[in-house]
Amino acid sequence: MAKIIAVYNIKGGVGKSSSAVNFAYLCAQKGKTLLWDMDPQGASSFYLKSKTDIKGGLKAMVKEKGRVVAVVKSTAYENLDILPADYSYRQMDIELHKARSPKQFIGKLLKPLAKAYDYIIVDCPPNLTQSTESLLNATDLLLIPTIPTVLSIRTLKQLREHIRKELKTTIKVRAFFSMMDRRKKMHDEIYHEYCEKKNTIFFKTLIPYASAVEKMGLHQAPLATFERSSPANKAYVALWEEIDKVLGKLK
Ligand SMILES: Nc1ncnc2c1ncn2[C@@H]1O[C@H](COP(=O)(O)OP(=O)(O)OP(=O)(O)O)[C@@H](O)[C@H]1O
Ligand SMILES: [Mg+2]
Repeated sequence: MAKIIAVYNIKGGVGKSSSAVNFAYLCAQKGKTLLWDMDPQGASSFYLKSKTDIKGGLKAMVKEKGRVVAVVKSTAYENLDILPADYSYRQMDIELHKARSPKQFIGKLLKPLAKAYDYIIVDCPPNLTQSTESLLNATDLLLIPTIPTVLSIRTLKQLREHIRKELKTTIKVRAFFSMMDRRKKMHDEIYHEYCEKKNTIFFKTLIPYASAVEKMGLHQAPLATFERSSPANKAYVALWEEIDKVLGKLK
């Protein structure tokens, strides 16, 4: 059964899609990997040059047996497939409410895929809805990209509190600093404060604010494929090594 890794934050524009694509590319060197672009915006589908229309949309994926497997597409990269975004995902909560067990809705939807892959990485939309909650219920490892600002840390605390109170307890929650600008004193202070804490949920490796990452939009490709030796790609590789260690300890 695949390990399900969600790249998620309630906040928008924090580097979820960029990170999900880079993680998926690195993960594919390790095992059979599926990236699910759960966000109707379709950013990670775009990065992997995948069309974002699924015939019959979410309804067909829910109703027709085998449909969710049939709509998976291969990418230009070995071992990496994509379940693309579709505009109908915006109505996911409506479909979820029709289900017999809404909390297990996403887990059930992904089940046939979990059997076929070693890893499923999910690029989540920036919201806290019943669909994202249902995804978190099915998730093994939650990765939260966090910009080192006061409000981002506040949102992270709210999210952890929500998970603790409302969701399953077996989910492993880890965060990393994303889009960090070392010229900003506050970014540096927050990074040190939270990374040096005992039992911190933050990985040591930070993703710098770098134009190389933005160029993923121009190349429509993972960073490693066009700027392999850039500091930002080296950071993604080092961060993935840290994540991989956590994955190795998951049951
Ligand atoms: N490390 C980085 N350095 C510079 N720009 C970045 C970095 N990471 C992401 N970006 C840019 O910031 C914007 C938002 O990034 P991305 O789409 O990955 O965030 P997101 O959290 O998925 O956003 P959304 O919440 O809208 O889905 C994009 O234009 C992207 O190119
Ligand atoms: Mg996104």
